[in-house]
Amino acid sequence: MSETGINWYRVADLDELAEGAVKKVIAGERTIALTHFEGKYGALDNTCPHMGGPLAEGTIDFGVLICPWHGREYHPLTGECEAYGEAVTTFPVEVRSDGIYIGVS
Ligand code: FES
Repeated sequence: MSETGINWYRVADLDELAEGAVKKVIAGERTIALTHFEGKYGALDNTCPHMGGPLAEGTIDFGVLICPWHGREYHPLTGECEAYGEAVTTFPVEVRSDGIYIGVS
């Protein structure tokens, strides 16, 4: 554990995730949907708040991450769901020289 209470985990190579893609990664004990959207990376808890669908198995279309189970739509970076007013838990992401890191507290 660092002084800030956040542990950083390297989860992907810099060129591993194409723009508009989502992938399941593990950071510590967390399973996370890593997204690449509009040149930025997002780290959303893999568990959909609705009924637990695996968000990393969803797709990013028309600017939203679509849950594969019932189609709820979340912002790929902020995790916000406009239609239902709830959000997926997100984690900080850092793009470093040797890869993409996610911080988990
Ligand atoms: S579990 Fe994700 S929309 Fe239902």
